[in-house]
Amino acid sequence: MLKNDMAISVTGLEKSYKNLKVLKGIQFSIKKGSIFALLGSNGAGKTTAIKILTTLIKPDKGSVQICGYDILRQSNEVRGVISLTGQFAAVDEIMTGRENLRMIGKLRHLSEVNNRVDELLKRFDLLEASDRRVATYSGGMRRRLDLAMSLLGKPSVIFLDEPTTGLDPQSRLSMWKIIKDLTQSGITVFLTTQYLDEADQLADHIAILNEGKIVAEGTSAELKKLLPHGHIELKFYNDTGLKAAGELLQEYGCSSDKQNTTLSVATDGSLKQITDILNKLEKQGIPVAEFSQKQATLEDVFLTIIGENKEKEAI
Ligand SMILES: Nc1ncnc2c1ncn2[C@@H]1O[C@H](COP(=O)(O)OP(=O)(O)O)[C@@H](O)[C@H]1O
Ligand SMILES: [Mg+2]
Repeated sequence: MLKNDMAISVTGLEKSYKNLKVLKGIQFSIKKGSIFALLGSNGAGKTTAIKILTTLIKPDKGSVQICGYDILRQSNEVRGVISLTGQFAAVDEIMTGRENLRMIGKLRHLSEVNNRVDELLKRFDLLEASDRRVATYSGGMRRRLDLAMSLLGKPSVIFLDEPTTGLDPQSRLSMWKIIKDLTQSGITVFLTTQYLDEADQLADHIAILNEGKIVAEGTSAELKKLLPHGHIELKFYNDTGLKAAGELLQEYGCSSDKQNTTLSVATDGSLKQITDILNKLEKQGIPVAEFSQKQATLEDVFLTIIGENKEKEAI
């Protein structure tokens, strides 16, 4: 019995380049119509995973099914249901946006290409620029065109390899909106990212790839329980203030850096908890010289999950 509601299932995937073991047995499944994010730092093996799933390279071990088709035995069928857009958009600079789209339509022998091209240009906010050469497009526009080209063939599963890397904040936000909208038409999205916030914003399901293994996996809410919620940093005028604050706030989990009299306090990220902490200090008459809130980075996440501690002296 096939698992019909799964768009992708991966088991025991391994891949090495010569002596370099990149994927050391990874597995996950992705529900149809959902957004899945493979999160990992630069060099973690995200593109390698995408290349295997899209039949560009072969795995050393393991099995992958896309919409029920096996990537090794049914690679043509797999290619028929997927599309891939990369970090480096595969658009032709000399041609206009519209020409790029029409060319793909012709290559794929699609019917009613012109209507579909117009619809996609409009949807991706490229109508105005459609008759300009792509060479004049911004990075964000190129990515949007690349995505439009991918959608022309109506794929069931779309692979986006670092869709926002290198984009300015505004283009990044508009890309996020476009990606979220994709699932409304029932498409399954597999994306890779180096950014925690991107995975958090977009994905129904996140898998964290580190040193060739999936080190954590779940919904954003599930992962948040595992992840550090960020912490606040409090700076005091002197060592006495620092020490008193450390004792007062013991229940939260604190660490300090005596050299610059900074106390780092773990929080759940809620405004209430942060206010409580500041109120407690005020009530005890411990003046705070500086306050800042730190977001958890991908490195913090790895450190937390892998169970290592920062080299900070615990109070
Ligand atoms: N064709 C290749 N030959 C040898 N090493 C490669 C090849 N492609 C990627 N690598 C190496 O494999 C590791 C994973 O690369 P990649 O999958 O591109 O990571 P990511 O996409 O997460 O940044 C890196 O150390 C990279 O240098
Ligand atoms: Mg990559």
